[in-house]
This record gives sequence, structure tokens and C-alpha cells, in this order.
Amino acid sequence: MGAPPVGIFDSGVGGLSVLRHVRALLPDVDLLYVADQAHVPYGGRPAAEILRFSAGITRFLLDRGAGLIVVACNTASAAALTPLRQAFPAVPFVGMEPAVKPGAARTRTGRVGVMATAGTFESQRYTSLMERYASHVSLYQDPCVGLVELVESGQVDGPAMEALLRPVLEPMVAAGIDTLILGCTHYPFALPAIQRLVGPDVAVIDPAPAVARQVARVLAGPPGAGAPAGGARAFTTGDPAAFAALAARLLGLPLPTAPLGWAGDHLVSPAAGP
Ligand code: DGL
Repeated sequence: MGAPPVGIFDSGVGGLSVLRHVRALLPDVDLLYVADQAHVPYGGRPAAEILRFSAGITRFLLDRGAGLIVVACNTASAAALTPLRQAFPAVPFVGMEPAVKPGAARTRTGRVGVMATAGTFESQRYTSLMERYASHVSLYQDPCVGLVELVESGQVDGPAMEALLRPVLEPMVAAGIDTLILGCTHYPFALPAIQRLVGPDVAVIDPAPAVARQVARVLAGPPGAGAPAGGARAFTTGDPAAFAALAARLLGLPLPTAPLGWAGDHLVSPAAGP
């Protein structure tokens, strides 16, 4: 029997920016991805609601055999990671957080930009990160209103993306940032546009490679049984054909995608029948 699959979830396509690094680092591991597109964006929702969604998705992934859950969403990690660990004590979780620690360690100007959702900025987790690691630097934050939706619509570059990013990034550049943290998993898909606007001298930090390394470290604990080449499959509570088309474009790989629906706090698979 092969190693259990790794479950990965996000409100939408954002967590695919994590999936691609997990896949590159651990090509033998089966991956199950859930996009809760019925509820995207999570960024403006109350933490209690995000926890309810995250717990439902976690139960679904565990029912499908997942042995580790990656909360590939900064907003859901901020709202739900601690209570998820309490509710599922036997399950290893890997979460996300804005890379404030490496960003603050790296800056020479002492000025760091942070792009994340309102939910992440308002969280206790983010406040604690700032207090622990960034008391000596100035953080320039922007909740990037509309950016998640633009990535979900597939417009990751072009005039609409530039128009949205310009008022976010120009003030940060004018303030003298030399480091920019992508604190939402949707944003790395807009990296070419972001880098163009901030210029080559600003280092843009995507935490996904570090998260993939953490997944590899956790998996190294219980031995895998040498599964053959792993596959990746996705589920969405939105439109599976649209998700699969966008995922293929963002990842450069096909990602077979099945529909899911919410029944109360539970995810059900219409394809599986009653
Ligand atoms: N991709 C998510 C994150 O990392 C959430 C975006 C959203 O749904 O608002 O924060």
C-alpha cells in the first residue's frame, strides 16, 4: 500500500501556488486539493465561519484518506489552524503565515511591504508575528481589495491586474521598501505583474517553497511505503470545468477536478451518489 495522500485546501485556486511546490518536491506523493469556491473569497468573512468551512473540508479530506492536511491559505490558517489542531489532535497540519520573520530578517532599508487579506491582517496570529519579529522594521500593509477575485477570474496579468496593483504597490515603493511579502496564496500567480511594478531591486517573498519543505519534513516522520509516481486530483464547491481550465493554465499541468457541494457543515460528492 502506498503512502496516504496529502490533503491541501484553499478558498479557491490560491493554494495551487503551494501545491505546485509540494508536487515539485514530493513527486511520489498523491495530492488531494479542495477549493471552496462556493465561498471565495474568505478574506472578509468572520473567523468562526472560516473555521466551520475549514473543519468541513478537513473531515472530507480525512475521509478520503489524507494523512496530512496543508491549510494552503493564510486567511484560513489565521482563523482556523489552532482550533483545527485541537479538534483533530491525531492529524498533522501544515499551515501558512505571512513571511514576516524572513522578511524582517532580510530587509536592509527597514521597510517591508505586506500584501494579505483583511482577515489575515486582523488576526491574532498576524499581530503576534509582528510583535515577535518585526518590532524593529516598518511594515507597509495593504489588503489588496479585489485581487483574489481577479486571480480567480484568470486575469493574472494585463491591464486590470496592473490597475489594481498600482495603487497598492506604488506607495510601498515610494516609502522605500526593499522586501515585499506575499501573504496570500493567490498572489504568487500575479508575480510577473507585481515584480514589474516594484522593480528588480525589491525581493518578493513567496512562502510556498518553505511550506513544501515543511510538508516534506513532517512526512519524513511516519515512513511512506514507496508509492509509485503520485497523482494530483482536485475537488471544488464551484464549477469543476472552470476550475480545471484555470488550474491547467496556472500550473501548466492537467488537474482532474470533481464537483463537491455543501450539505450543512459537510461536503458531499454528487458524483458518489447517496
Ligand atoms: N488564498 C487565501 C489566502 O492565502 C485566501 C484568499 C481569500 O479567499 O480571501 O489568504
